[in-house]
Amino acid sequence: MSDFLTVMRSRTSDIHSQVEREISLEKHLGDLSGYRDLLLRFASIWIPVEESIKASELRNCDTIELNRRMRSEDIRNDLTTVKSRLSDRSSGLDDLIAVTEMTMEEAVGALYVLEGSRFGGSVILREAGHLGITPALGGKFFSGYGKETGAMWKQFTNWADSVLAADRLECAADGADQCFSYFLRQFQITSS
Ligand code: HEM
Repeated sequence: MSDFLTVMRSRTSDIHSQVEREISLEKHLGDLSGYRDLLLRFASIWIPVEESIKASELRNCDTIELNRRMRSEDIRNDLTTVKSRLSDRSSGLDDLIAVTEMTMEEAVGALYVLEGSRFGGSVILREAGHLGITPALGGKFFSGYGKETGAMWKQFTNWADSVLAADRLECAADGADQCFSYFLRQFQITSS
């Protein structure tokens, strides 16, 4: 396994399990408004974290197709689609979290979290099928890159290994841990 993945996994596997436990699929996939709440919680983190990644030194990196990896637009579109099927059309998207500036290493760590979440996203998408959610109808954000999912993950992790010297891996892991903690906090808040 790559050094990058070894360090990322050893530093974040506990918090990943915690996040996974906090996201109640029973609550969020029981009906469409639960799914909207799930999207809103993701969006409140996703949009500012992506902004911060795009403002970091990673913006100059063409190798990993950064723009293609960004999903803020997908989640905004999914919210619009879902909203149009609900009688309560409020968006609630004014609740974005505050994200601090990221170093290049922290941005790589945060991107590891965002990209890795596609693995869980495919589980969510499958389980949301009974609500009429598909990649074309409200589920684009949770869908992967289709047949290219494995290749995109490999491209990113190989690249991370090539740019991060061994003594910078812990800084990337700090960025990943920080990013996971945003999700943990957001899903620990009980919905009103
Ligand atoms: C119900 C929610 C979730 C489920 C069921 C879930 C499930 C999974 C699964 C099955 C994998 C693949 C494990 C493997 O093949 O070794 C994975 C990997 C991963 N997930 Fe999650 N996940 C969830 C939520 C999240 C969230 C919200 C994030 C981040 C925001 C996240 C970040 C990651 C990362 C970074 C990896 C890659 C780990 C690696 O290969 O190094 N997951 N998840």
